[in-house]
Amino acid sequence: MLNNQGFDLWANDYDRTVNISEENNEYPFAGYKDVLNYIYNQAKEQIGSNILDIGFGTGILTNQLYNYGYNITGIDFSSNMIDIAKKKMPDALLINWDFAKGLPEKIRSCKFDYIISTYAIHHLTDEEKIKFIKSLANLLNTNGKILIGDISFETRKELEECNNIYKEIWDNDEIYFTADEIKNALNDTCYCTYIKISHCAGVLTVTNN
Ligand SMILES: C[S@@+](CC[C@H](N)C(=O)[O-])C[C@H]1O[C@@H](n2cnc3c(N)ncnc32)[C@H](O)[C@@H]1O
Repeated sequence: MLNNQGFDLWANDYDRTVNISEENNEYPFAGYKDVLNYIYNQAKEQIGSNILDIGFGTGILTNQLYNYGYNITGIDFSSNMIDIAKKKMPDALLINWDFAKGLPEKIRSCKFDYIISTYAIHHLTDEEKIKFIKSLANLLNTNGKILIGDISFETRKELEECNNIYKEIWDNDEIYFTADEIKNALNDTCYCTYIKISHCAGVLTVTNN
């Protein structure tokens, strides 16, 4: 599993390498642009909303929302990713923090209209993801939404089929969620929907009602 230093090393080359995988329509980034566009279009209902991005990286998505007039708060543990994103979004509150430890003190009493995360939470185990998503749901304003785009599958069978096709390059350190399992684990407290975007990606939407 990449730690913050691994992401620091990847930062300068991140956008280019993602594009190559995306353009070839291959695991791991097949559908990347569509995932980001889907979240962008969902989130841009009203200008000036508060938005939290978990693992914003070089800020490819957050930057578009920043330019659209959102108040941006972000969490990432890679200093180099933060430096790149900060240049694009000088007025955003970008916090250097490891979200495996939960939420930073600074934002625990904040409220957000949208909490977004793309290609980041697969660094948590499924159990940690559930706990983390529940803690994020507490930060939502009324009618707020959590939008999580990631390498993910509708069922475990689909995940295993993809793993089988890409076994040479499959990253065994990353833990991809399946929609049916995560929805099942969250449905006592939240309402969840999932949309499949590519053969290895989709977007999970979580609300409190
Ligand atoms: C694959 S990149 C995705 C970046 C961006 N969201 C995107 O869609 O292009 C994953 C990002 O999550 C951050 N990240 C991964 N695990 C993290 C953790 N435990 N705490 C904070 N940031 C983390 C990395 O530093 C990196 O910037």
